[in-house]
Amino acid sequence: MEDLKLDCLISESQIQKRVLELGQAISEKYKGQELTVICVLKGSIMFFSDLVRSLSIDVKCEFIGVSSYGNNTSSSGEVKLTMDLTNPAKGKNILIVEDIVDTGLTMEFLKQTLSARQPKSLASASLLLKPESLKTKCHLDFVGFEIGNDFVVGYGLDYQGFYRNIPYVAKLNMN
Ligand code: IMP
Ligand code: MG
Repeated sequence: MEDLKLDCLISESQIQKRVLELGQAISEKYKGQELTVICVLKGSIMFFSDLVRSLSIDVKCEFIGVSSYGNNTSSSGEVKLTMDLTNPAKGKNILIVEDIVDTGLTMEFLKQTLSARQPKSLASASLLLKPESLKTKCHLDFVGFEIGNDFVVGYGLDYQGFYRNIPYVAKLNMN
């Protein structure tokens, strides 16, 4: 991997603090109910695993794969399912967990795909949101941080498959 410079945007402690807050809000919303939390592979793995551990309600974990990006830093605009859930979503409280919402096309695709399966309820959470990049009116129920249009990596987010294991979110300095 070429040696690109990383500029820290959101520190490990900021992330952990915010994840706990989101966990509390989600636990409050679904108090007394069961929640199926869906990890959108691969970018959400870190956020998902910290988030589910911060929930104080009954939780089931599911995984789904989508792809919209090639090996570059802008959306191809095409979203496809690369791996499906292993259990039916029908009648369940579903929470989709994304790493980042950029154009919003992936989240819209996931919402459409899952709502067609008649869940009891369908909500969405994303660690990061780039409000200026949105191409759809994508409503999110839980957002960690709003950020600018920079390409970011770390805490699950990648550039050409690398940097997912960095424990904080960083801007990738391409210059
Ligand atoms: P969207 O469909 O344009 O909203 O893009 C969603 C997906 O693109 C995310 O789940 C990420 O996998 C990827 N993505 C968007 N912006 C970034 C970024 O800044 N860094 C890394 N991946 C990103
Ligand atoms: Mg993703």
